[in-house]
Parts: sequence; structure tokens; C-alpha cells
Amino acid sequence: MSATAEFVRAAALSDLEEDTPLRVELGGVPVSLVRTEGEVFAIYDICSHANVSLSEGEVEDCQIECWLHGSTFDLRTGKPSGLPATRPVPVYPVKIEGDDVLVSVTQES
Ligand code: FES
Repeated sequence: MSATAEFVRAAALSDLEEDTPLRVELGGVPVSLVRTEGEVFAIYDICSHANVSLSEGEVEDCQIECWLHGSTFDLRTGKPSGLPATRPVPVYPVKIEGDDVLVSVTQES
């Protein structure tokens, strides 16, 4: 059984600059929105290695880099592609409706 995904407006599409992460809070969850390669991704904003905001890192090749120790996370899957982080961070579904970026941080149950 899965809970119905509840999408909430996270930002305006026109507010997102290419490859420049935007940190938002959705229902108390810190989320980094990233517009890159023609798509928008939503990834949990805290590195899985330590309490560092991923939105302060750089974006390249659909990856976001943690500025502290340099681990990178795939924006599509949340998986780390380099040490020292070994655990993935959550990623969330995104919908674009007009100029609205909608994100669902609802957990499946
Ligand atoms: S805090 Fe992100 S890699 Fe160490």
C-alpha cells in the first residue's frame, strides 16, 4: 500500500537558475531544488555524511557536490558516487505545472 503522493508548490520555475541549487523547506523537510539539463530535481538538502547543506555545493553532470568533503550525489537517485559518503540521500518526485514547481515529500508507506 502506498500513500497518495501529495504535491506542494515549492518554487516558481522562473526562480530557478540553471545549475544553482535553491534550498526550500517543505513540511519541515529541507529540500534542494536543482534545475539542470532541462529538468528539475528535488533532493534532501542534508549530506548523508555529516550535517552539511547540499544546496551550497556545485552542480555538474546531474550530480550535486557536498562542499565539505567532496562527495557527489546523483540528482536522479540520491546515490553517492564518491567517498566519503556511502549512504544515499532521499530524492523526491517533481512536477512542473506552468511556472509552478511541485514536489512531493510524502513518504510511501
Ligand atoms: S559532509 Fe558531505 S561528504 Fe562529508
